[in-house]
Amino acid sequence: MTTPSESDKKPFLYVVVCACGIAGNVGKLITAAQERHWDVGVIATPQGLGFLDTEAIQAQTGYPIRSAWRTPGEARPLPPADAVAVAPATFNTVNKWAAGISDTLALGVLCEAYGMGIPTAVLPYLNAAQAAHPAYRQSLELLREMDVLIGSYEPHKPKAGGGADRFRWDEALELLTPRTSARP
Ligand SMILES: Cc1cc2nc3c(=O)[nH]c(=O)nc-3n(C[C@H](O)[C@H](O)[C@H](O)COP(=O)(O)O)c2cc1C
Repeated sequence: MTTPSESDKKPFLYVVVCACGIAGNVGKLITAAQERHWDVGVIATPQGLGFLDTEAIQAQTGYPIRSAWRTPGEARPLPPADAVAVAPATFNTVNKWAAGISDTLALGVLCEAYGMGIPTAVLPYLNAAQAAHPAYRQSLELLREMDVLIGSYEPHKPKAGGGADRFRWDEALELLTPRTSARP
């Protein structure tokens, strides 16, 4: 049996999924990443988990979806990350992440990614009333200072059904690829 050489080994992408109406379409990002030669593991916030077809995602990635912290003796279910994509990202998670709050596994991974120098992109999906809150602007500024790559989605009108058709899942990969060894 041959073992894959270092050059055959695919880079590993963590996709962090938050509790947004469009989270159920995250399979689009997983497919796009796999087509670009990434292996993918999904980490959902506890609220985000309820928006996902967990069986379909686990079949697509080949890894369990992580959401809770593992117990101390438990093996790590995912390989270490070469890059992280937060998509879709909620108002809530963006603000908590920027503030250094780590009360979910997803936030713990994000808060540590900075210190570990792991390239990270975030695609927020929220409405204009949420985006108008001063804390949100400050959070984005802080994340930019942390070298987090931020998606271009323009917040949709509140109570107007969202802008799922304008949300570009691929943008996470476009942002990350120049920072990694993954194929364009
Ligand atoms: C059906 C539904 C859709 C939601 N969509 C969004 C959304 O698009 N963006 C957002 O910031 N919050 C949205 N929320 C609110 C978040 O789910 C809520 O703030 C939650 O606490 C976020 O948790 P998380 O950041 O840990 O994933 C939605 C809630 C529901 C019930």
